[in-house]
Amino acid sequence: MTTVTDKVRDHFINPRNVGEMADATVVGEVGSLASGQALKLYLKIGADERIEAASFKVFGSPQAIAASSALTEMLKGKPVDDAARITADDIAAYLGGLPPEKMHACVIAMEALEAAYARFRGIALDNEGEEDLHHSVCRCYSVPEHKIERAIRDHNLTHVYQVTHYTTAGGGCGSCHVDIMQIIDRVRAEMAPAKPATRPAPALAGATGNVSNLQKMQLIQEVLDREIRPGLAMDGGDMELVDVQGNQVFVRLHGHCNSCSSSSATMKFFVQDRLREMVDPNLEVIDTTEHSAELHAPPMR
Ligand code: FES
Repeated sequence: MTTVTDKVRDHFINPRNVGEMADATVVGEVGSLASGQALKLYLKIGADERIEAASFKVFGSPQAIAASSALTEMLKGKPVDDAARITADDIAAYLGGLPPEKMHACVIAMEALEAAYARFRGIALDNEGEEDLHHSVCRCYSVPEHKIERAIRDHNLTHVYQVTHYTTAGGGCGSCHVDIMQIIDRVRAEMAPAKPATRPAPALAGATGNVSNLQKMQLIQEVLDREIRPGLAMDGGDMELVDVQGNQVFVRLHGHCNSCSSSSATMKFFVQDRLREMVDPNLEVIDTTEHSAELHAPPMR
């Protein structure tokens, strides 16, 4: 269950340093209304390069307000080079911790700080201006690839639901999940090229001729546990592995997931793609969920 510290609540109800700063030395701006989060951070920096004042304007969740407020308090009096080293985890720690699924609030605050610092130092941010739909991996939340890559590297992420926690990418329709998985695989391979992958390696694909049905079932269960079920749990759903017969994988959806046959069909192919990639290219997923007929009946006239 999501818990909120007293400090988060306090910074949300009584946010410090809200509003534009007319005499700001520099402004850092990130996010967009389309992504559901936008933040402007105003910094007044003295001749000695200490931050004399900080303020913000934010559009976003209560946690985004709390994180922005906390950051402005953390920045006051700091040398600007020291301030630039503040991380999302530092902001969360200042607030007494945030639930993982709310960490994106601290990430956007940190990014606004980075944008302000880059502008102050005259450093070009090569990703500026990319937060539009045409450059987004996740079109629901306008999240570009470089943000997803960075979250994976900075926080050692391994699953789509974790990327959603840190970036919001993947938190909508879910159609970007496969793309996010591929980015996770690529970035993690770049991070530790010599290490074996923590999840079943793609090299397993096609190798099931050498493994027993029990081993194949264990591999499939592991992929479901690692790759699929955590994301479903975020929406109150779950997926059960019912049986494996040859290349046929029988699954059943539970909770929120079994209330819609169309999402079930999408999920079937999503799961099938992942299992084919990770376990065996010949696998076929068969959904045995019994969907509630009344939910899909045509409306009464
Ligand atoms: S495109 Fe990413 S959740 Fe919809």
